[in-house]
Amino acid sequence: MRPWAFPIALQPGTSREPVFQQIAQAIRGDIRRGRLRPGDALPGSRSLAQTLAVHRNTVLAAYRELAAEGWTEAEARTTCVARDLPEAPPAPARVECGLGYALEPPPPGPARPNLRAQTPRPLDFGGGLPDLRLVPTDLLARAYRRALELPGLLGYGDPRGEPRLRAALVRMLSGMRGLAAAEDCLMVTGGSQGALDLVARTILRPGDRVAVEDPGYPAAWATLRAAGAELVPVPVDEVGLQVEALTARLQEGRVRAVYLTPHHQFPTTVTMSAPRRLRLLELARQNRVAILEDDYDNEFHFEGRPVLPLAGDDPGGVVIYLGTLSKILAPGLRIGFVSGPRALVDALAARRATTDGQGDHALQRAVAELLEDGLLQRHARKMRRIYLSRRNALSEAVQRHLGGIATFDLPPGGMSLWLSVDPSLDMEAWADRAQRAGVAVYTGRRFDFHGRPRPNLRLGFSALGETELEEAVRRLALALPR
Ligand SMILES: Cc1ncc(COP(=O)(O)O)c(C=O)c1O
Repeated sequence: MRPWAFPIALQPGTSREPVFQQIAQAIRGDIRRGRLRPGDALPGSRSLAQTLAVHRNTVLAAYRELAAEGWTEAEARTTCVARDLPEAPPAPARVECGLGYALEPPPPGPARPNLRAQTPRPLDFGGGLPDLRLVPTDLLARAYRRALELPGLLGYGDPRGEPRLRAALVRMLSGMRGLAAAEDCLMVTGGSQGALDLVARTILRPGDRVAVEDPGYPAAWATLRAAGAELVPVPVDEVGLQVEALTARLQEGRVRAVYLTPHHQFPTTVTMSAPRRLRLLELARQNRVAILEDDYDNEFHFEGRPVLPLAGDDPGGVVIYLGTLSKILAPGLRIGFVSGPRALVDALAARRATTDGQGDHALQRAVAELLEDGLLQRHARKMRRIYLSRRNALSEAVQRHLGGIATFDLPPGGMSLWLSVDPSLDMEAWADRAQRAGVAVYTGRRFDFHGRPRPNLRLGFSALGETELEEAVRRLALALPR
């Protein structure tokens, strides 16, 4: 790390304290305040003397004094802050907010476990994550490097996103998903979560009722709540959101929007049936309800006819379509998008201009290049083949090791299995025991709108290889509570 800068004002003629003591005092003060931490290197005496315009011997005298008091120690010809300080180390700075704001605690959110921090890394069934070991980082890095060298991309740009990426996404949507989007009706966002946040804060007023799937996606609930929405849970069955139940909720009062995952419902992975889709579109048109369609893993459909997004057949113009590259590429890149009426996209862009302004346009250009060259599409096809084998491997492992207590329908798409488990089982105890055996799983309770226990387990198969899946299920079976 760079040695510490030394912003002290010495008072050579005015203070009665000798200059070397003023220097020692300033350094002591910085250590006490926590600005300098144990192990940090102080600047060399020559360079500090130059910075402060004093004689080098003055700095050496200050350093000798600090060392004698135990504040510093010599480490490989450098003076460093002592690891064992003469006083208790300071508390980390800026813990308290002294400005008197009434800061609300954040709304209950997704609370992703920080599995990265655990060693050894658990076998994580968390679900929904692509296999990050297979991301085409070489291709991306080369394209990113080329993009960084282009003129203009490191300046401010269009808040709707880098134009070439918007054009490439529009072509991808029409070619792969049957969506007739237009470039000025599409905006690139910080993941689909960023898209949902922008949309929610743009179209909702505090107290607006928004229908959501139950079980569903807690991260989206948190975003909608943060925009002031009052959430109305609507049950899901084996053909998706129960539109009859939504109709009943509409009769109780205005519902401004419905957020749903019709392609592979999160977390159950069921696909919404065609009759339900038509009824939902008609209901939304008649009642002026915005449909927030989250199509997060469209490419990973393995069997049966591809199902078109709701946005592909939306004569009423009520669907706002949210997409992401988190599944076909990587979530850490934070590239998502929203497609909707032009006036809405303009309003979203105006709002974005008041926050972070835009995303990383160089990265977006790099991804555009991968799409233009068909490389991302090829990667998605490859991953679909891999995930299909993993789905089959997981399904066989579950039948082998958990056949007596868990059943499931083989999902035609998606990235996880949704198990129905013997209801007499204590799911949370099972998950705890599994965690101790190095396997991370999510139980049904996590996706229940009211946080009630549900006899379900969501097992993601995309981030683990086939041998890892077998091993994880074996350990899961051994962790069953007796
Ligand atoms: C239902 C659902 N929507 C969207 C996403 C993707 O979110 P983002 O694009 O913000 O990474 C996920 C990822 O976990 C998801 O499960």
